Amino acid sequence: MASLVINGGRRLSGSIVAQGSKNSALPILAATYLVNGKSVIHNCPRLSDVESTLKILENLGCRIERRGNDLVVDSTSAFGYEIPENLMREMRSSVIFLGAILGKTKKAVISTPGGCEIGLRPIDLHLFAMRKLGVEINEEHGRLECSIPKKLKGAKITLTFPSVGATENAILAASVAEGTTTIINAAREPEISDLCDFLNKCGAKISGAGESIIIIEGVKKLEATEHAVICDRIVASTYLFAGAVTGGDISVKNTVPAHLGAVLPVLEEAGCEISIRCSEIRLKAPTKLHRIDKLITQPYPGFPTDAQAPIMTLATIAEGTSVIVENIFESRFKHVPELLRMGAKIRTEGRVAVIDGVERLYGASVVSPDLRGGSALVLAGLCANGVTEVSEIKHIDRGYENFETNLCMINADIVRTEKDYGNRKEK
Ligand code: EPZ
Repeated sequence: MASLVINGGRRLSGSIVAQGSKNSALPILAATYLVNGKSVIHNCPRLSDVESTLKILENLGCRIERRGNDLVVDSTSAFGYEIPENLMREMRSSVIFLGAILGKTKKAVISTPGGCEIGLRPIDLHLFAMRKLGVEINEEHGRLECSIPKKLKGAKITLTFPSVGATENAILAASVAEGTTTIINAAREPEISDLCDFLNKCGAKISGAGESIIIIEGVKKLEATEHAVICDRIVASTYLFAGAVTGGDISVKNTVPAHLGAVLPVLEEAGCEISIRCSEIRLKAPTKLHRIDKLITQPYPGFPTDAQAPIMTLATIAEGTSVIVENIFESRFKHVPELLRMGAKIRTEGRVAVIDGVERLYGASVVSPDLRGGSALVLAGLCANGVTEVSEIKHIDRGYENFETNLCMINADIVRTEKDYGNRKEK
């Protein structure tokens, strides 16, 4: 079992290049199944979630070739419509294949993805959107059997919540439906716009991406093309937070600064000096971080829930009391007990966390509860006194490419170790 061992207290400095976006690559890879021919996807991060997605594509009949961070997906002779349960369980967001499979084969069989570490994560909005487009869904024994008696037909889809996944599924199916689809209260995340950019390059007619109303004129066929995935704004944010908690001076390159529009002001509120030059963001940390008044996670362009855990680490060593409200997922404070083990002072009540800043954190053995919680513990280890060991890092590998290598490039003391946990019970 691998873990990350961190010798804390070093001031980070230098620059790193941010990876391609996981949450953009996954829906775009699902879309490669829907389009006809060979798609070439550049800047695709090497992550276990991407590997799980490739397994699903191969299972559906696609041929895949990897060249470094570029992927070639040939879906010409792929007509599978079923995703086996084990692959669905491997990665919750496999549900975004539903719209692509229905768009291509007019039927689909998947198992309900079920919840994960951060919440129940129902898919009612996904199914609502599919039904609006004319899909019949038979839900039994944890399986969803979907079919289209007539045709996929454009419709007005009003989402009660701007769900990222439900918006992506609706866009995928509607892009090859007959007629016009209007999605109202659509998600506005940059990953949605990236998916639409890819599909429009394949011949789709989508307008309003990034807005809360998206209009899709269905087309008969989509032809494969080449596309580069955008930068991962959550990973870029995490590296900036690493610079902040270690009193560092770092630059993150290859970013889209506008996508961090809700994150950078919080770093400035904490006393960091932020400068932007084209796609490079530089952060100079203050001697002592200031508290964050009240941070509420919201759908884009609000503060991203995926950056909540790593920025909580910053608040644990800031001067004064910070308040964080997790608005999107019901159980996304699983990193708190681990931070308490490192000497943090945090009280939680439901979705509210009150963090009283302490002088220093202390190294300890901690367990990653989920992807972003794991990154928060690595940041805590970077600024802690002594050695921290973060285990269950399979969660971190789902979203951070070469995490420890990149951190070492900006002067961190962090190594990945393989250790036999035979006798020690994990929480
Ligand atoms: C995407 O998940 C991201 N995953 C998540 O990132 C991210 O946290 C989330 O969007 C919010 O920004 C990917 O893009 C692969 P949602 P998704 O549907 O699509 C409720 C990470 O760390 N909801 O916008 O699953 C849901 O329970 C991951 O990289 C319904 O009630 O998120 C949640 O409370 C974690 N019914 C809220 O909406 C539905 O049918 C937001 O979910 C769908 C969602």
